[in-house]
Amino acid sequence: MATATQIKSLLQSHGSGDDERFYAIALQVAAAEARRGHEALAAEIKKLVDQAKQRKATPKSVPSIFHVAQPQGEAAELLEEAAATWKVKDLILPQPLRDRVSRILEEQQHLSRLREHGLHPRQRLLFTGPPGCGKTMTASALANDLRLPLFVVRLDSLITRYLGESLSKLRIIFDTVNSTRAVYLFDEFDSIGYTRDFTGDVGEMRRLLNSFLTFIEKLSSNSLVIAATNHGDRLDKALYRRFDDLIEFGLPLPTHMWKTIKARLGSIPQDELDRAQILKAAAGLSYSEITRACEEAIKELLLRKSKFLSTSMLIKALTERRLFLNR
Ligand SMILES: Nc1ncnc2c1ncn2[C@@H]1O[C@H](COP(=O)(O)OP(=O)(O)OP(=O)(O)O)[C@@H](O)[C@H]1O
Ligand SMILES: [Mg+2]
Repeated sequence: MATATQIKSLLQSHGSGDDERFYAIALQVAAAEARRGHEALAAEIKKLVDQAKQRKATPKSVPSIFHVAQPQGEAAELLEEAAATWKVKDLILPQPLRDRVSRILEEQQHLSRLREHGLHPRQRLLFTGPPGCGKTMTASALANDLRLPLFVVRLDSLITRYLGESLSKLRIIFDTVNSTRAVYLFDEFDSIGYTRDFTGDVGEMRRLLNSFLTFIEKLSSNSLVIAATNHGDRLDKALYRRFDDLIEFGLPLPTHMWKTIKARLGSIPQDELDRAQILKAAAGLSYSEITRACEEAIKELLLRKSKFLSTSMLIKALTERRLFLNR
């Protein structure tokens, strides 16, 4: 029989979403049973652990056992659940950024090992960078790889929708952050983090920012809190130290543009593509715009019933995206 301490540890690791520890304790129980001569029971527990690990390793196979708690009542209205469909491996990023994202994932996957040594896993993150460069995608990928739900809060609409009440709404949101382990993306963070020109009547926003900073300082769960903004340059730099990590996303470099194109085209039949010409047409576009241009080119291929996607189809689509953005 498992001891009361083991049962307590099982429940704690389950509650905090720490799979690794959960399985480790289950295996300890199995070992103890084996020592007592209960070989069959020990083998059965080991088999169950192996099966659970295997299911977890299969992407998107089953809903997470930790994905049970959902925000209730008013919190459900304030938190929009977004699809966590990407994986960290799908992100196309310069190696230093990829390493930072992997590091966050790894620390979250080994929460208890870090906490046992009094260490604090990265959980308050600031994402900055231009539109379409991976801020939301990274939040989604972290949630998916951690098998947690992703909730998005748009801070600009929280302020406009609940003028005068935004502080109490933020408190409700953070009650959920502290009770339900998930990835929480606070989008348009500059709408409260932009403090330089604050004057009298924007007091509510200043209070909102101060409350936000206090809430993230006093987090009492293993949730990941991500503040994202397109305007990192507008943020008061003093804010940066309130986060555990800052990830500055940027427009793709030529090699990442090419990877984005190749990833989106996948197995679509293609001519020998002229990389240099295509990259010239893609210069300055975001990952998102390049992806959309590829989708337009694929549509063209399907509608014209052409056999192969050509360099000129891609250049046309990329040029159209650029004209569309500059109109
Ligand atoms: N680093 C990336 N690697 C691969 N694809 C990307 C990357 N960044 C963006 N994309 C593509 O662009 C789409 C939009 O990106 P995303 O939503 O992450 O942008 P964002 O940085 O959150 O922009 P915004 O500031 O407008 O919210 C993604 O769904 C994906 O298809
Ligand atoms: Mg986004």
